[in-house]
Amino acid sequence: MVVAGIRLRNPVIAASGTFGYGVEFERILDLQQLGAFVVKGLSREPIRGNPPPRLWETTEGMINSVGLQNVGVTAFVRDKLPALRRYDTPVIANVFGYAVEDYCEVVRVLENAEGIAAYELNVSCPNTRCGGMQFSSDPAMLASVVEPVRKLARRPVIVKLSPNVDRIEPLALAAEAAGADALSLINTFVALSIDPVSRAPRIGNGMGGLSGPAIKPIALRMVAQAARAVRIPVIGIGGIACGEDAAEFLIAGASAVEVGTASFWDPRATVRIARELERFLAAQRIARAADLIGKLKPWPA
Ligand SMILES: Cc1cc2nc3c(=O)[nH]c(=O)nc-3n(C[C@H](O)[C@H](O)[C@H](O)COP(=O)(O)O)c2cc1C
Repeated sequence: MVVAGIRLRNPVIAASGTFGYGVEFERILDLQQLGAFVVKGLSREPIRGNPPPRLWETTEGMINSVGLQNVGVTAFVRDKLPALRRYDTPVIANVFGYAVEDYCEVVRVLENAEGIAAYELNVSCPNTRCGGMQFSSDPAMLASVVEPVRKLARRPVIVKLSPNVDRIEPLALAAEAAGADALSLINTFVALSIDPVSRAPRIGNGMGGLSGPAIKPIALRMVAQAARAVRIPVIGIGGIACGEDAAEFLIAGASAVEVGTASFWDPRATVRIARELERFLAAQRIARAADLIGKLKPWPA
């Protein structure tokens, strides 16, 4: 199947920040069995990340504040990418920054490297030039980063939306109008966990991002809303833990899915979910995953 110009072996993609640079999973699963994988977010310069604890398990979910730790785009191209070229599974580079120029500079470096299928822009980052407001929280600010990246990139650009907004449709439409080839959603929800004895946050950095099965119903709602609003493909993310979860996102209108937190309790979750989805489709006598996309039955208004 082809989604936004990316040739996927199946609709299940490993989500950014939960699959390292891909190479860490080489000995755990067959990378060739994945639809694609998205590497950890890449920035202009290396980032050391936030103080520990960085993860806290919650009811049916997890809060993280890793702080976008990464080796930086130059070291990624030099040290990580060569090993990934041994696979023909598409590698999607997740890109972030704190100013429009940061995103452009990271993409510029990646443009000179072979072995990348697409870019995914993580726009859930504070724009330090605009008082720290997130790029993803305002349609005009979102367009201001998507447009220049789209102009300089020769590869497909996926815009990854944040769920921390009142309405997702204006942001989905702004990304599409600015030239996005696809949307992916959702990123994590801003969340807080408190230790009642010490009265301190359980995460070193205070607040973090909630992910995992706890967010799945909200993710499904937002994917359905975004998919109805735009014509470009939508990639569904949020709490997917089994093949039937993936099928629900396809029915909501997603053309493919990303799996994140599930890899923390089952490192083979991505390939397992791809297999389970295949079995589900066979049991339902559905020939191809594409036949399920957007097949959500209407309900009375
Ligand atoms: C530990 C951790 C690190 C993450 N890092 C990134 C990142 O670098 N860039 C990004 O776009 N999303 C990042 N995410 C968000 C996930 O890719 C995904 O959108 C989110 O967790 C929801 O999916 P899930 O419920 O399947 O985990 C991270 C999530 C987790 C749990």
